[in-house]
Amino acid sequence: MTNQSHSWSHAGDGTSEAELGSFKTLEQFILERQDQFSHSTGAFSRLLRDIGLAAKTVNRDMRRAGLIDVYGSTGETNVQGEVQQKMDALAHREFTRALRRGGECCLIGSEEHAEAIPLSGTSEEGDGKYIVLLDPLDGSSNIDVNVSVGTIFSIYRLPDEYSKDEPDPDAALQPGTQQVAAGYVVYGSSTMLVYTTGNGVNGFTLDPSIGEFLLSHPDIQTPTRGRLFSINSGYYHSFEEGLREYLDWLQERDPETNRPAKTRYIGSFVSDFHRNLLKGGIYMYPATEGSPDGKLRLMYEANPMGFIAEQAGGAASDGHTRILEKTPDKLHQRTPLFIGSEEMVRRAESFLEETSDRASARP
Ligand code: AHG
Ligand code: MN
Ligand code: MN
Repeated sequence: MTNQSHSWSHAGDGTSEAELGSFKTLEQFILERQDQFSHSTGAFSRLLRDIGLAAKTVNRDMRRAGLIDVYGSTGETNVQGEVQQKMDALAHREFTRALRRGGECCLIGSEEHAEAIPLSGTSEEGDGKYIVLLDPLDGSSNIDVNVSVGTIFSIYRLPDEYSKDEPDPDAALQPGTQQVAAGYVVYGSSTMLVYTTGNGVNGFTLDPSIGEFLLSHPDIQTPTRGRLFSINSGYYHSFEEGLREYLDWLQERDPETNRPAKTRYIGSFVSDFHRNLLKGGIYMYPATEGSPDGKLRLMYEANPMGFIAEQAGGAASDGHTRILEKTPDKLHQRTPLFIGSEEMVRRAESFLEETSDRASARP
């Protein structure tokens, strides 16, 4: 279960606990964790700090979105042929700028840029030993209508065989199991940063009055069995048979197994994932007739969220294979995705398995 409930109590006199200093800041938390590793150089902590700073900058612009000129599209399409929103381009610039200035990252892969971007030699500071893969703005079609959107990031070490001065873009093509950290920011009714370094999942809420992320959701655990399912069921008729059967099963009435399940679909992956992580549920973006590889991207959507899901006790699969074990061929590779409460992901897999066995047994 989630254990955030204690975090929201107030002192009773209108003064929040945050003001009383009982919450740890993101910076304190990062430094405390860093001290647990005797050989740490602090580079990784500085990289996380740079990401936190970029998130605050994007948040600032997002909060004024109706007032400054960031609604609507840039008139361009990105490498996947999708319409680029002004806020997509702005978030990409803010994150790239913060990582460039910080100097700890030598290569960025972004949804909003066709090729990986080398950063080496651009900053006096930093060791430049990390690779950061980004979905700078997720759910961007929701910005103009004031619905929650997010940022997703995934961090890898530059393997020893690559030079940090001229990083080969292929260095970014590592399986998700190699991630050293992953996280997301959700710009929702409050702004939260949630991340893992492979040692549990922790969530921080931005206190805008002091401009700090504060540890509000320590050690997030997701329920093994959930009641929510999130999928664009408008595409129902183009899903494979096993998935249609699973969706029908979820909607059957059976109080003993807590069915029917409830549908929740925002259309912002970060927000859908965040809700399901806290409450228990499954998010699905499957293959469809028109998109046999699904829509979401392996490197900067499925892998980072898969790492977080597993660290919180959940699971992430493409319907057959563990997401983190998939070998990437290209930066913008797509994958079908089933992610969330472990029992729900396993059941989805078994429905898919069963009907593909049935189909192959047909004469
Ligand atoms: P992005 O804005 O980064 O391109 O991602 C959009 C994704 C994801 O956030 C969301 O869950 C999904 O697209 C919605 O797609 P449909 O409109 O096809 O349901
Ligand atoms: Mn996205
Ligand atoms: Mn995006």
